Amino acid sequence: MPNPSLLILPGDGIGPEVMDQVTRVIDWFGAKRDMPFDVSTDLVGGAAYDKHGTPLHDDTMAKALEVDAVLLGAVGGPKYDDLDFSVKPERGLLRLRKEMDLFSNLRPAQCFDALADFSSLKKDLVAGLDIMIVRELTSGVYFGEPRGIFEEGNERVGINTQRYTESEIERVARSAFELARRRNNKVCSMEKANVMESGILWREVVQKVHDEDYPDVELSHMYADNGAMQLVRAPKQFDVIVTDNLFGDILSDCAAMLTGSLGMLPSASLGAPMANGRARAMYEPVHGSAPDITGQGKANPIACILSFAMALRYSFDQGDEAARLEAAIESVLAGGARTADLMGPEGGTPMSTTEMGDAILHALDASL
Ligand code: IPM
Ligand code: MG
Repeated sequence: MPNPSLLILPGDGIGPEVMDQVTRVIDWFGAKRDMPFDVSTDLVGGAAYDKHGTPLHDDTMAKALEVDAVLLGAVGGPKYDDLDFSVKPERGLLRLRKEMDLFSNLRPAQCFDALADFSSLKKDLVAGLDIMIVRELTSGVYFGEPRGIFEEGNERVGINTQRYTESEIERVARSAFELARRRNNKVCSMEKANVMESGILWREVVQKVHDEDYPDVELSHMYADNGAMQLVRAPKQFDVIVTDNLFGDILSDCAAMLTGSLGMLPSASLGAPMANGRARAMYEPVHGSAPDITGQGKANPIACILSFAMALRYSFDQGDEAARLEAAIESVLAGGARTADLMGPEGGTPMSTTEMGDAILHALDASL
C-alpha cells in the first residue's frame, strides 16, 4: 500500500504560519505512530496569483484531484481587494470546492471546557456544546446562473441566482442523516421556505429522504432566520444542522463564535468516493487569513491542527488517532496554554504560534 497522499496549500496571511505547525504534527504521526504521509505543497489564493496571475494554477487543481486529501490554510488579504473578481484569492478556494465536487461541508462547533468563559454567551449556555453544521458547498447562490452585473435601462443590476436541484439537496441531506446516526441522532434543516421556492423544494426533499431512509433520525425544520436566533438563544438544542451554501456560511460563523474563538474551529469538505473508495476531501480552518496579525507569530494554530484531526477521522479512518490529537489539544488548553485570541480579561502573556505547536507536540508525546 502506498502512503496516503496530502496536498498542503498554506495560502495567504496566517495560513502559512498555522500550517507550519500542522506539518510538525503530520511529521509526529509519521515518526511516532508509523503513519507516514506523502506530502506535497503548492500555492493557492493571493500567493498563487502573485506567482502565476491566477489564484489556482491548473497544475495545482490537477494535483488536488489526485491526492487523498487537501489541507488548506486560508486565502485573501487587503493586497488583493482591488483585483478583478475573476482572479480574487477566494476564486481559488471556490474552484477547488466546485471541481472536487465537495458538496458536504462539516463545520463542528464544539466548546472546550477550558474556554467556556471566552464565549460571548453565558457559560452555562455553551459549556459542553457540540453541534455540527453541514453546509452544502457546491451549489446555491454561490454558483447559480445567471449571475453578473448587467445594464438595465439607465442603471446597472447585480444578479445572483439561488438554485438547487433535487439531487443536490438529497446528497447533502443524506450526509447529514448519516452523521447524525453517529452522534445524537437529530437533524434540524434550515432554509427560508416561507419566501423562497428553493427553500420549499429543500424542505420537501429533506423530508422525503428522511421518511424513506432515515426514519430513525429525529428531523425538524426551521426558517434560517429563526435558526440564527435559536443558535444564540439556546445552542445546545441542536445536534446536526443541515443547510444551504449561503445560510451555512453565515450560520457557521455565528456558531463558531459561540465557542469563544474563530481560531479553534476546523472544517472538512467531503465529496463523492474516488476510485480507491476514499471520499474526495479538503480540510481547512473556518477562520480566514487574518491580515491584521499576519507575520507576528500570534495566530492560533489549533483550528488548522484540528482540521488535520478531521482528516485522520474522515479520510484515513483513524478515529482513535484523531481522538488522540483532539485530547492533546484539550489537555494543553486545560493546562492554561493560550494564544493571543484566547486571552481572557485576567490577562497574562500569550503564547506564540510555535509555542502552541510545541505544547501540542509535547502533549502528543505524553499520550504514548
Ligand atoms: C468560508 C468563507 C468563504 C465562503 C470565502 C472565503 C469564499 O467565508 O469558507 O466560510 O464564503 O464560503
Ligand atoms: Mg464564511
